[in-house]
Amino acid sequence: MTAYQTRLLSASPPGIAAAAEYLRRGELVGIPTETVYGLAADATNEQAVARIFAAKGRPQDNPLIVHVAQLCDVEPLVTAFPPEAQKLAQAFWPGPLTIILPRSPRIPASVSAGLDTVAVRMPSHPVAQAIIRAAGLPLAAPSANLSGSPSPTTAAHVMADMAGRIPAVVDGGPCGVGVESTVVSVSPGCARVLRPGGVTPAMLQKVLPHVEVDPAVTHPLADGQRAASPGMKYKHYSPRARVILVKASPQGFAQFVNRQAAAKPEGLMALCFDGEETSLTVPFLTYGRRDDANEQAQQLFNALRQLDERGAALVYAACPSDQGVGLAVYNRILRAAGFEVITLDR
Ligand code: TXA
Ligand code: MG
Repeated sequence: MTAYQTRLLSASPPGIAAAAEYLRRGELVGIPTETVYGLAADATNEQAVARIFAAKGRPQDNPLIVHVAQLCDVEPLVTAFPPEAQKLAQAFWPGPLTIILPRSPRIPASVSAGLDTVAVRMPSHPVAQAIIRAAGLPLAAPSANLSGSPSPTTAAHVMADMAGRIPAVVDGGPCGVGVESTVVSVSPGCARVLRPGGVTPAMLQKVLPHVEVDPAVTHPLADGQRAASPGMKYKHYSPRARVILVKASPQGFAQFVNRQAAAKPEGLMALCFDGEETSLTVPFLTYGRRDDANEQAQQLFNALRQLDERGAALVYAACPSDQGVGLAVYNRILRAAGFEVITLDR
């Protein structure tokens, strides 16, 4: 892999023009979106796509999302755009929704890890929009983290993982949503959530009456079971620390964690909700208020990264609600915990 002096570009017209130039040359650029930062490349250029997998250390069987700026850009990427998908696009694009569609030959098989479908998303972030338009290309972009580590929600996070591996990162400030897009597949009359995100099942249900949530969103796959969304089969979003999710009231959580601390285990930390740290006797970080899933989504990945920076070895994390955007927060933290959950007093 080439060693780069990674440039931090501003989200100004010259920064966007420079990013577009790298992309047209088949290079990778870290770009802001409303969900998380993406590691973008020309989705029609097989070599550029191969660079994504190399820079991230991503397994070849985990497919990428292709990003477009406008509806008419979708047509060349797919062989069909079913009415259910069109309704969802109408309602939620631009925004944090990815739709699985039948892949056209214009998109190399490597983008989709050999699947005959392609994941398509139209981001709403003005800088992402500007970069796609300036490049004049559909952009394949996974989250811009090293494979397995928490997704980046600031340009500094991208730099921490990608410096030396890519030529440039565009700094668009912190991401608004903070967790990756909702991924859905469609069938006649029906949408199926393969990965929860900022567009919730209830929001989808207002557009398509029948919405299913794939069991892999909240449960580990059984041995040999095939993931509808291959990304769901990997241990993901993980800090280096061991994370254990604790389902408990605020009081129950604090009592439990303080009891664990009595044995003075090395590197014990708590991850709890804002305002609930007062009775803790161990080092802690917070990730938003208990009743605000949007705040939790915005702050979770940064908190997971900070746990590593603080040298945490064992983290007890207060369990979020799985309602609304909370389902996305719960899904991510459950994976960070490798499905290790302790249920106390509820
Ligand atoms: O918000 C997002 O979606 C961000 C930003 C950068 O747009 N991107 C992102 O990409 O999260 P990534 O690669 O980290 O996650 C893509 C997810 C994976 O779980 C993958 O398995 C799934 O989408 N996916 C991609 N193509 C698919 C396909 N053809 N069928 C099923 N799942 C697919
Ligand atoms: Mg990712």
